[in-house]
Formats: sequence, structure tokens, C-alpha cells
Amino acid sequence: MSVTVVIGAQWGDEAKGKIVDLLSQEADIVGRFNGGDNAGHTVVNQYGTFKLRLTPNGFSNPRTICVIGPGVVVNLATLIAEIETIRQAGISLDGRLWVSPRCHVVMPYHPLVEGIYERAKGAASTGTTGRGMGPVYADKVSYNGIRLADLADEAALAEKLGVQLKVKNALFKLFNIDELNLQNIIQEKQAQFAQIKEMVREPFGLVQEALRKDARIILEAAQGSLLDNDWGTYPFCTASTTIAGGAAGGLGIAPRWVGRVIGVAKAYTTRVGAGPFPTELLDQDGEALRQAGAEFGTVTGRPRRCGWFDAELVRFTAQLSGMTEVALTKLDVLDGMPKIKIGVGYCPKGHCKSDLPGSEVRLAHYWEGDARWLEAQEPEYIEVDGWMESTKDVRAFEQLPKLAQAYVRKVEQLIETPVGMVSTGPEREAIIPVPR
Ligand code: IMP
Repeated sequence: MSVTVVIGAQWGDEAKGKIVDLLSQEADIVGRFNGGDNAGHTVVNQYGTFKLRLTPNGFSNPRTICVIGPGVVVNLATLIAEIETIRQAGISLDGRLWVSPRCHVVMPYHPLVEGIYERAKGAASTGTTGRGMGPVYADKVSYNGIRLADLADEAALAEKLGVQLKVKNALFKLFNIDELNLQNIIQEKQAQFAQIKEMVREPFGLVQEALRKDARIILEAAQGSLLDNDWGTYPFCTASTTIAGGAAGGLGIAPRWVGRVIGVAKAYTTRVGAGPFPTELLDQDGEALRQAGAEFGTVTGRPRRCGWFDAELVRFTAQLSGMTEVALTKLDVLDGMPKIKIGVGYCPKGHCKSDLPGSEVRLAHYWEGDARWLEAQEPEYIEVDGWMESTKDVRAFEQLPKLAQAYVRKVEQLIETPVGMVSTGPEREAIIPVPR
């Protein structure tokens, strides 16, 4: 059971990159199994600060192999730029990066199609990252995708692209968007493919061999569980499978190999883009979290929506992925909060226990309804005292203020999952193990 899956337990941006970076110091293989360059992982290590979207986080360890599985969609320009950034930092990826030829390629028309839909939806738009994720996955599942392997064969590529442009250009005409030129795209994609073709090889055999040898494999999910296409707040979600089960399909690793599932959750909650967010704070507490946590999107720079920790959500995502532990990140962001609330379940707006003293209201679960239902709910909270001290340089759990320790213990009780580590700063050393 040598596989550890690291997933986001909320709406993404939970600082998974930092946890994977720490674990990858001991890893033989680090893999990505979903999403594309809509993800944004910030990693701070001895080589500098890296903001990566596609390259798996094991890149900084010379003995770690990085694999990108068929569940990932590849924007070639992004991948090439990242390989170059990593090279310039003095790290060689030669022979260490394997990208499945089954990966679908983001084509220039995908972000354009996405833009048409986002504009047509108006106020009901998803608020995507604009990287073409919905359309590229839609083409994949409707048998209209173009995979990396197709780029190696010019005639096959021309035929497939020709069909796609016939349909997409007709749509663009309707929406007054300039038509795309077949030859230009073929040239661009083949030139990009030529730059990475040594890395395009199926990692399945390598991974199976590693499993047999009980090698240490870390799989990192992109985005967060609540953006999952099936279980997230659809249609305010992403296009891929973001939960631990996605590792099986997205990289061809059977579930029986997975022994450890780490859900990464912030000590509060954030969300980018539209969609329900029951514990969102639209007041100065929300602004204080945004400033203290530097909550601005890695990919889009958008200010993130901020709110209290929602234990109902994380209990749900822990069940969904069978989390063996949770890594609670950015605890230090709560350092200045005199009172801290934790969401524990929902009731229809205006009907929470706090609104109706003495009445017993049954708290509803996230999974009982859809996004529209969730919009009509409000959270029931418990309130705890804040610690009002800096936790930034703390390196051992027992050295955290007593109230911070109590907060972590309360969270693990509410989510019914052990908190295995907490983090109080961006550096590797700021990840503190939590004793049992
Ligand atoms: P898409 O994945 O670009 O299609 O965007 C769909 C939704 O997922 C939007 O609400 C995005 O803000 C959100 N999203 C996508 N990737 C991330 C991420 O890495 N972190 C946080 N939110 C994301």
C-alpha cells in the first residue's frame, strides 16, 4: 500500500502544493491525475518560489519521477514554459518527466468556446479560470478530443482538427469571433510537441513496476473536492474528478494500492469564482482573512472569497475520499481573530437554532441538495475563543497557544477525521505534525 493521495478538502487553493512538496522529498514518483493549467500550486523551496500549474510537485527532488496521467488535460505552452522555468532554476527534468500520450490537448478554440458560454450565462456564469477546461473535457467525453499522441501524426491531426474547426468556426461566426486557421494551429501544435516529445510516453508500465516494488508514490489532485464534477456544487465546479477516486481512472492505479489519503483543508474556507458558500464572510472579518492569508488567485489574481471553516463540508469530503488524515493549513491566518466560528451544518435561511432560541432544528448535510438548495441554506455555527498570539515561528504542536491546539482538536472532532499536521507559514519547516 505505497500510494498516498493528496487532495483538496474544500474549494481548492488549500496549499496542497506545500504538503506534496514535503512528502515528495521521500517519494519515488509524484503524479497528477486530473485537471489542467487551471490549477495553480505555489511551492517555496531551496531553489526559490515556483508557481506551477501542470508539472507535478516532485520536480525539485532529483530522484523523483514526475508523471502526468491521462486524466490531465495539457496546455502545451504552459507545460513548456514550466519546464523552462524549472531548468533555469538549475533543476533538470531530463528523463524524470513522463506525460501520457493519452492526455487531451487544450486547443486554441477551447478558451474561446468557454468565453462564449460564460458570456451567454451572464450573471449565472461559473466564473472559470478561462483556461478552456469545460470545453476540452466536453470534447474528450464526446469523442471530439485531440490527444498528445495525435500531434505526432500530421495527417491524422489535420483530419481531426479539420472536423473540429468546421464546427467551432461556425459557432465563432455566430458570435462574431474571428475564425481559426487550420494550418496555423497544426504548425503551432507540432512545433510545441517537438519540444516535449521525449517526455510524451505512457507512464503506466513504470507506475505498475513501482507498485510491485512498493515504491513510494504520491498523487496530487488539482482543485478541491467541492469543485468535483459529480460531487461539487455543480454547475459551479470544474470539469474533472478531483476526489481520491479520480486517481484510479486518471493514472490507472487500482484503488487497492492506495493506503493513505491526505485531505488538505485551510483552517478557514476560501472559494474563487461563483457558487454557493454558506460560511462566506462579506464583512471585515472576511477582509481580514483575505489580507492575512494573501487570498488572491494564483492563476487569475482574483480576490478569493473568504469565510469560516465549514466542518460539515470537510466531514463530507473526508467521507467521499476516505481521508485517513487532514492537513490543516494556514492556521496562522487566524492569529488575530478574537472569536472564531465553525460551521457545523445547515438549516434554511432564517431558521437556524441561533435565530429560534430553544427550538430544535435538524441540521441538514451538504449532500442532501444541489447548489441552488445550498444557496438557500445558512450555517449553524459554534464559536470558540481565538488565541490572539502569533503562531508563525512555532515548530511543535505543544508550543502552539493552548487555544490554537484546542481549535485543531475541535476541528478534528467535528470532521470525524484525525488532523495529522498543521501549517503556520509558507516554508516546509512550518508544517507541524499533530500528536495522536
Ligand atoms: P475551471 O476549472 O477553469 O473551468 O473553473 C471552474 C471553477 O473552478 C471556477 O469557480 C474556478 O474558480 C474554480 N477553479 C478551477 N481551478 C481552481 C483552482 O486551482 N483553485 C481554486 N478554484 C479553482
